[in-house]
Amino acid sequence: MTSETRWLPVDGLETLRLRKSAKWRTYPADVLPLTVAEMDFGLAPPVQEALRAAVERSDTGYAMPAPELGGAFADFARRRWSWNVDPEAVAAVPDVGVGVVELLRVLAHPGDAVVISPPVYPPFFEWASEARTRLVEAPLRLNEVGWRLDFDELEKAFAAHPAVYVLCNPHNPVGRVHSSEELATLAGLACRYGVTIVSDEIHAPLALPGATFTPMLTVPGAAAITVSVLSASKAWNLAGLKCAVIVTASEEMASRVNLLPPDVRWRTGHFGVLATVAAFADGGSWLDELLSTLEQRRTLLTGLLHDRLPEVTWQAPEATFLAWLDCRAFGDGDEPRDRFLEAGRVALEPGLRFGHPGSGYVRLNFGTSAEILDEATARMARAVA
Ligand SMILES: Cc1ncc(COP(=O)(O)O)c(C=O)c1O
Repeated sequence: MTSETRWLPVDGLETLRLRKSAKWRTYPADVLPLTVAEMDFGLAPPVQEALRAAVERSDTGYAMPAPELGGAFADFARRRWSWNVDPEAVAAVPDVGVGVVELLRVLAHPGDAVVISPPVYPPFFEWASEARTRLVEAPLRLNEVGWRLDFDELEKAFAAHPAVYVLCNPHNPVGRVHSSEELATLAGLACRYGVTIVSDEIHAPLALPGATFTPMLTVPGAAAITVSVLSASKAWNLAGLKCAVIVTASEEMASRVNLLPPDVRWRTGHFGVLATVAAFADGGSWLDELLSTLEQRRTLLTGLLHDRLPEVTWQAPEATFLAWLDCRAFGDGDEPRDRFLEAGRVALEPGLRFGHPGSGYVRLNFGTSAEILDEATARMARAVA
């Protein structure tokens, strides 16, 4: 930390509770919500300005993503990740969930197998059935350094020739930023068994200091078999505005993705496109402040857990504002989450929602103020004392 470092401010609880989004309306007022992946920081000024200007000109019609969206994303990808994206190969979709489901509909036939790696973001389980495909699990492996892709499990699953593997990179909830070597191994396996990769990279802009995000489409051999889905919605907190991008980097994948119903783009939110363009084009310095703030919150949480809840173990995430906490010392299944909620009045995501390896785990959202983290961990400690 330098003396110039500035943490992003967070409103007090009374003001936060005025928000009408899901995070603030799911639980009663005496519960501290550290659940769904919304952050408590204010909007980035360029995003706020773009939305305010749109309201002032009553600009609330249908979205017109081209050409700004592809250009803004390609410039951001080049600056942040040295990734050369063709703006023409960027298509708008309403959100990452819609993007993945619509992709599964064109990349797999009903009944085909789709592989995922739990513990993973809960809708991954539902997206496969929404697209009438069959879910196959190749769980992550927990070793002494953390949760990693398990290539034995993946090879076993790929050997049965599933249609698609849905990659989560960075991986929610464990916070792993898969290395370029791991992604190269994955690409090799997918090529060998003819598996298409849909890479959910929504958390990519949130790779924290010390981690290097590798876009799957830059991995040698991956472009011919991969389509990626990204969004500004996690890093700039725009989930309610409805805009994400699908990106391809080969003619083979572009022609498959072109089978998406043309109407999908009309369902994208106009405010989502305006805010996303502002975020990617002008939100870089705010994002840097966010990443420094999240790094500080991650360090703070490490200390608070160590002092107040020494029974909890975890690997601090390399990306995102989500902490995946092993609370098996307090019970199996969702018992730890229930105790924290009922006795501590702190809401966390229950581990089993992320699949069976989540038994005894909770996911804590630390995209908030130091004061709220202090209060939440104090309440959690009292709940299990
Ligand atoms: C890995 C992952 N994918 C997708 C989403 C949801 O994205 P969207 O709201 O754009 O559907 C989330 C939300 O937290 C997520 O963590």
